[in-house]
Amino acid sequence: MSSDVSTPAVIIKAEGVTKRFGSVVAVNRVDYELREYEVAGILGSNGAGKTSFFNLLTGYFIPDEGRILYQGQDVTRMTPQERVALGMMRTFQLTSTFDNLSVIDNLVLAFFRAHRKSSLWQLLTNTCKQHRKDEKILATLASFDLERVANREVSHLGLGEKRRMEIAMAILAEPKVLLLDEPLAGLAESEIKGVLDVLQRQVGRQTILIVEHKISHLEHFLQKLIVMHEGRIIAEGGYECLQSPEVRKSYWQIDEAAA
Ligand SMILES: Nc1ncnc2c1ncn2[C@@H]1O[C@H](COP(=O)(O)OP(=O)(O)O)[C@@H](O)[C@H]1O
Ligand SMILES: [Mg+2]
Repeated sequence: MSSDVSTPAVIIKAEGVTKRFGSVVAVNRVDYELREYEVAGILGSNGAGKTSFFNLLTGYFIPDEGRILYQGQDVTRMTPQERVALGMMRTFQLTSTFDNLSVIDNLVLAFFRAHRKSSLWQLLTNTCKQHRKDEKILATLASFDLERVANREVSHLGLGEKRRMEIAMAILAEPKVLLLDEPLAGLAESEIKGVLDVLQRQVGRQTILIVEHKISHLEHFLQKLIVMHEGRIIAEGGYECLQSPEVRKSYWQIDEAAA
C-alpha cells in the first residue's frame, strides 16, 4: 500500500500471464510481484516454466494472456531492447560477448553500447583502446575480480570468469533490475562462490531476480522465492515455503505416502 512507507514499491508485476506452446501451457495464469531492491528467486524442476516466465518478463516472449507491468507501465508488448532502456537488464547471453576480444574490451563495448556514446563500429575501430583506462571500467574489473584476466581473450576464459564478465557487462548498463537465468549452471564449486560474491555486492544497488533449478547454493542469498510447477506458482515466500506439501511432492519429489 502506498501509505506504508516501509514497503518498497513494486517494480515488476505479472498479472495472469499465460504462455502456450501448442498444447503445452508453459506458464499458466501467473501473478507475480517483485519489489525494489529485493533479491528474489524462481525455483522449480526442469520443465516447470521458469525460463518461459523469465522470457515473458524480459520480452523474449509475448504472453497469450495477461500483462507485464514495469514501474506501473504496461510493457507486455515491448521488445527486450525497449525494456533494457527502461532499466530491466538480463545478463548478456553467450552470443553477445565478443569471444575474440579481451575481457576489458568487452566491458568497454557493453558500457558504451548501454550509454549510446558511440556506435559499435566506432568503438571497434578506434575508441576501445582509449577507453581501457576509464575509471568506471577499471572499477568494474576490480569489483568483479577480473583484473588478472583483463587482457585475456574471452575464448580463453574459464566458465566462472566468463559468467562474472557477463554479469559485469550487464551491471555496466546500470540497470534497475538484474535478471539472471541459471547464473550458476555448469559452474564448479569454486566458480559458484566467485559468482555469488559478485552478485552479493549488487544487493541494495539493484533489484535482483534469479532463476535456478537448484536451491543448494542460494540458501543464504535469496530473500524471497517462488516455486513453479507445470506453469504455476505452487509456493511463495521465504525458505519455509520449500517445506510445503506440494513443494515436497513436485519439487523435491518426496513421496509422503512411501516415506
Ligand atoms: N520454445 C519452446 N517451444 C516449445 N515448447 C517450449 C519452448 N520453451 C519451453 N517449452 C516447453 O514449456 C515447458 C516449460 O519449459 P521451460 O520454461 O524451459 O521450463 P524450465 O525453465 O523451468 O525448465 C516445457 O514443457 C517445455 O518443453
Ligand atoms: Mg530453464
